[in-house]
Amino acid sequence: MRVFVLVALLTLPVRVDAQLRVTSPDGRNVVLVDTHDGKLYYAVQRDRRPLLSPSLLGFQFRGQPPLRDSLRIVDSSRSTFDTTWTQPWGEVSKVRDRHNELKVSVEETTNPNRKFTLAVRAFNDGVAFRYEFPEQPGLRDFEMMDELTEFAMADNARAWWIASNRPRLDRSEQLWSQGPVSTLDSVQTPLTMETRDGKTFVVIHEANLVDYARMNIRGPRMESRTLRADLAPYADGVKVRGKTPFVTPWRTIQIADKATQLSPSVIGLNLNPPSVIANTDWIKPMKYVGIWWGMHINTMTWNSGPKHGATTENTKRYIDFAAKNGFGGVLVEGWNVGWDGDWIQNRNAFSFTQAYPDYDIAGLARYAESKGVHLIVHNETSGGIQNYERQIDSAFSMYEHLGLDAIKSGYVTDLTSEGHSHWGQFMVNHYRHVIEKAAEHHIMLDVHEPIHDTGERRTYPNMMSREGARGQEYNAWGGEGGNPPEHETILFFTRLLDGPMDFTPGIFDILRTKTGPARTNEDARVRTTIAKQLALYVVIYSPLQMAADLPENYEGQPALQFIKDVAVDWDTSRVIDGKIGDYVIVARKQKNSPQWFLGAITDEETRTFTVPLTFLDRGKSYIADIYADGPGANWLTNPTPVTISHRTVTRNSTLRIVLAPGGGQAIRIRPAPRTTKQP
Ligand code: NOJ
Repeated sequence: MRVFVLVALLTLPVRVDAQLRVTSPDGRNVVLVDTHDGKLYYAVQRDRRPLLSPSLLGFQFRGQPPLRDSLRIVDSSRSTFDTTWTQPWGEVSKVRDRHNELKVSVEETTNPNRKFTLAVRAFNDGVAFRYEFPEQPGLRDFEMMDELTEFAMADNARAWWIASNRPRLDRSEQLWSQGPVSTLDSVQTPLTMETRDGKTFVVIHEANLVDYARMNIRGPRMESRTLRADLAPYADGVKVRGKTPFVTPWRTIQIADKATQLSPSVIGLNLNPPSVIANTDWIKPMKYVGIWWGMHINTMTWNSGPKHGATTENTKRYIDFAAKNGFGGVLVEGWNVGWDGDWIQNRNAFSFTQAYPDYDIAGLARYAESKGVHLIVHNETSGGIQNYERQIDSAFSMYEHLGLDAIKSGYVTDLTSEGHSHWGQFMVNHYRHVIEKAAEHHIMLDVHEPIHDTGERRTYPNMMSREGARGQEYNAWGGEGGNPPEHETILFFTRLLDGPMDFTPGIFDILRTKTGPARTNEDARVRTTIAKQLALYVVIYSPLQMAADLPENYEGQPALQFIKDVAVDWDTSRVIDGKIGDYVIVARKQKNSPQWFLGAITDEETRTFTVPLTFLDRGKSYIADIYADGPGANWLTNPTPVTISHRTVTRNSTLRIVLAPGGGQAIRIRPAPRTTKQP
């Protein structure tokens, strides 16, 4: 407190008696709200030390003076909350929402006398705030040109970032960079930062993004340490269109002492409304295979022709493989008319109901059902939004009628067909419309090229997984040469804090020797060992988890057993150890089961860990099925050896986990079968 007041007095001669504050239940996080010279500020302290210096709040609406310069606090109120709610599926089954709330009523002292309430919540794992506008004469229909929210970092913390304005617009599929906050330009959220003393981790993001534009962050570009909200625009530059009454999404600032405490992140879920789907029995996490990797490595095509992947015969082969190995779903891409020619340019040619003649969708739906497998429908829109929305009712009705209850959608494009940002309010509303329509038709969603996850899955648990980062497919393409070994160790502490990712792990033909000459380091190839591919099923959380390789590449591979066994829904998740960009070890307990799974991954360094199994139940003995990097394994020249071993363990055991360069380890820990007494 003393330190903050000192800073505040030096920079802003605020009237301390007017300062409002809200403190987290554990007393460690404090948000202070105050005005100075007619401007409204908030600041955040952690353990009485400034984390965010006084940061400006406000808006710019078209045709009006900035809602920023003549504000005064007229009222405030407080409340406390403590509830625990249950997720239908997730990284954890129970989530506690415990926070203190401060509501600050603010009014403009000059014309047009606009007013709003700043709602602030302080949780033990971070703080959040949003603006709430009542209906009012001075602000009815509006066009918002800018949100003026700032995040003034007190420390020149180290940030892990991906750009929001390059290399292509509107893409999250980039490799992370790192650097001090002061050097940031335009970046995406979640934006993970570590203070220079290594004692605090901060993640800026947003929650409950509804009828608004997605928030990116504009950096200070060397001028200060102040980050600013940067909303994605409509084609005409307007950021948000609306009318009062109206609320913004929550701006969230997750806070932890250690990187390992950032995950699983639930602050965003707690800031979303509870589920509106009363009966969620039809929503089921599952593992799936698919007619997919073949297109990316050019052994099949989406379009019609001799290499067409989505044929009835090929799909039956995948359904049989899924049924034989206990996988719940089969994704089929390229089944529908529209892929011939340049499918990104010809986006309005996609039909979402008409199958290619060599694909018998109704027959395959029946065949899949008879085998207990879900056929996952693919809807690539290429950003042709009107084309998709025009067909959505008939398409979703048809899928429901055929018993098809999962869609993977795609939005490969920079700007939409209407010229809007892929992330603007127009698209936020589109994605929400699709979620609602899918819920109406009992359809689960896996969205590629999405908007970042802001906790939608709490309200609509059919919104299951999304891409929104560089996934496995980058390992199939030429040019940039795939994801480097450190990639997933950064993903875990950045992108994965907003929600599940359909990364599509499980490539066994790492060097692609089965489909051509072995790839060298310079070629597009997978830059992990096989054991690390297995570990990714535990590390990268997704309720829809793909076994991404071709079925023939799993033939005769004992390591497939781990993919068959691994769970996709969890009671609890614990990050045992980790360092951003270096390594991660995660243990998760399967939902409604005594089994645990452990995944450990490393970057290009070999590493050894000793992991105590204290998370196991007292007095029970378990078998650990261990899938480790085999002798001489390394991602570069020898990625395939996997050693599978089994040992009896208890909660008093420790495991010595050795990871090869670019390697990993995957472990299933199951209750030991009771030994039957001999007569
Ligand atoms: C990009 C997606 O990420 C990928 O999974 C899909 O196969 C292609 N688009 C085609 O829709």
